[in-house]
Amino acid sequence: MPVEYRSGLGWDNHRTAAGRPLIIGGVTIEAEFGLDGHSDADILLHALTDAVLGAAALGDIGMHFPDTDPRWKGAASTRFLEHARELAEGLGFTLVNADCTVILERPKLKDYRVRIRESVAGILGLPLDRVNVKFKTSEKVGPVGEGRSAEAQAIIMLSRELPIA
Ligand code: C5P
Ligand code: MG
Repeated sequence: MPVEYRSGLGWDNHRTAAGRPLIIGGVTIEAEFGLDGHSDADILLHALTDAVLGAAALGDIGMHFPDTDPRWKGAASTRFLEHARELAEGLGFTLVNADCTVILERPKLKDYRVRIRESVAGILGLPLDRVNVKFKTSEKVGPVGEGRSAEAQAIIMLSRELPIA
């Protein structure tokens, strides 16, 4: 059976805010500030959700979870990514791998690497060796570097068996 492969790209950005939790990839990070947003502002899960939707040509996160809809206020972003995965699987796609980068000046995330990978792998239904997370500072430059915001980037590969023509 011939197989098609689809890649999808995701990116997200949220402002930092005092008194908010810092949740990255579904994991709560110890910090004196968090990220502002309508939902739990999990930049990594939002970027991954857009990457899954992108690979399946299903638009973007705002189409599926409008931030004007009270149903999603304070929602755990795990639900967004689970839903995107279900939509892709409903079209016959299987996830192959995920790679992502979180750009955050502080705190250091490397001690959370295993927990974040396990969390993302669990939501995507992937083995750990198909999920990679990278962390970067912005070298004190720009809004991320000045600690005013944080960003995440993600890429997802999907595969699907094609019927023989
Ligand atoms: O941004 P920079 O290249 O200086 O980051 C060096 C390393 O520090 C990264 O490869 C990553 O392992 C770690 N890091 C981290 N948490 C951050 C930023 C970077 O653990 N918020
Ligand atoms: Mg977001």
